[in-house]
Amino acid sequence: MHLSNRTTEQWQKIDSAHHLHPFTDFKELINTGTRIIISGKGNYVTDSENNKILDMMAGLWCVNIGYGRKELAEVAFEQMQLLPYYNSFFKTATTPSIELSKILADITPEGIERFFYGSSGSESNDTVVRLVRRYWDILGKKNKKTFISRTFAYHGSTMASASLGGMQAMHNQGDLPLPGFVHAMPPYQYKFGKNINEDEFCKFAVNEIEKKIIEIGSDNVAAFIGEPIQGAGGVIVPPRDYWNLIQDLCKKYDILLCIDEVICGFGRTGEWFGSQHYNIKPDVITFAKGITSGYLPLSGVGIGKKISDVVIKQGGEFYHGYTYSGHPVACAVAIENIRIIKEERMIENTKKNIAPYLQKRMREFENHPLVGEVRGEGLLVGVELVKNKEKKEMFDPVGTVGNICRDHCMNNNLIMRAVRDGMMCSPPLTITKDDIDKCVERFKKSLDATLEDIKKLDI
Ligand SMILES: Cc1ncc(COP(=O)(O)O)c(C=O)c1O
Repeated sequence: MHLSNRTTEQWQKIDSAHHLHPFTDFKELINTGTRIIISGKGNYVTDSENNKILDMMAGLWCVNIGYGRKELAEVAFEQMQLLPYYNSFFKTATTPSIELSKILADITPEGIERFFYGSSGSESNDTVVRLVRRYWDILGKKNKKTFISRTFAYHGSTMASASLGGMQAMHNQGDLPLPGFVHAMPPYQYKFGKNINEDEFCKFAVNEIEKKIIEIGSDNVAAFIGEPIQGAGGVIVPPRDYWNLIQDLCKKYDILLCIDEVICGFGRTGEWFGSQHYNIKPDVITFAKGITSGYLPLSGVGIGKKISDVVIKQGGEFYHGYTYSGHPVACAVAIENIRIIKEERMIENTKKNIAPYLQKRMREFENHPLVGEVRGEGLLVGVELVKNKEKKEMFDPVGTVGNICRDHCMNNNLIMRAVRDGMMCSPPLTITKDDIDKCVERFKKSLDATLEDIKKLDI
């Protein structure tokens, strides 16, 4: 095997000397040392100290079919031997990228029919910015450039995708957003709609978007972009009518509707895509993560007739592309991944059995003194930890309690993610009722330990 046989301590030393980690406080990590993950099987990963950890985050919201599926490795091996790489520039293509496009046309939201590939969600969202601006440009509406997104949105970490995102901390560090990106309030009722009912809040949240459109002027707005359920922003689940109303707004003001399916795509909501869960028909979608279950990097943008009629029939060359657009090995792995999801009826099982069970069991935590709200849909859950349950008072400063709880989870062999002071889960679609029971048991222990720490530290 290509892996060297070192001790955990040796790996940690090399890691801290030579490796810069994403989204990491470098100094803190050097003090604490990295946890080194060695292998994965099903819904579990094993670290270099032989701890078997239940991965309720499916890696980073992506290992939809679980770890250790040999079929994906075999397909990659075969494709690498046949043709490890060729590009899709200059009037060439490879068979996996062609076949994958046909498969995607069948499963993506109605009307989406053509696909452009990248290697990450960030790249795909950058492509959307280029493509949508090109679309309006060809139509002679040169001022329609601005993208409206929402605070707490996460659309990636490149300059344009981080500008689309609504993460203040990222903006502060990168001189962002770039011009042409504005943000409105997300449908985060626990924070922004404490004393009103869901219908009232829905109208309020949609109205905030409409106000933004009017403020900028619809002649200057290119598109509205959003995740069906905001994932990394804290599993923000919109009111049921929200997306239909947003779709109407986009039609009313002649704005394109872009849906970021990077987390919600490939079964997470109990449908193939979040757009289908909310019954909307976007003009353009982006996807990544679950398309290969994270086994290889692959992402894409899907467009419908409205955009393709303009950019294909009326435009000349689109000066945009990546070396790895339509990478044959990644596309072959995606085809096999989708075959497994279909054949093992993972989406049907998510919708009928597993998601309702996960939602029901996690909602038991609503009675815990630290928990303000449990929200979620499909295999996405967010548990809001609060200072005062009755007053819906959040912790200040934000984030300390979430991190404490995440560390307790890890010590109890449970991976959940902390977002501000909320705890998220987004397990593989292969998660079982037994594993969900284990998650609930370990999370209860972790929450209780967090509550003790809060008392001790007087947070
Ligand atoms: C909704 C959403 N869009 C885009 C991205 C960016 O994807 P990547 O990290 O592959 O660039 C992410 C990553 O978590 C995401 O959650």
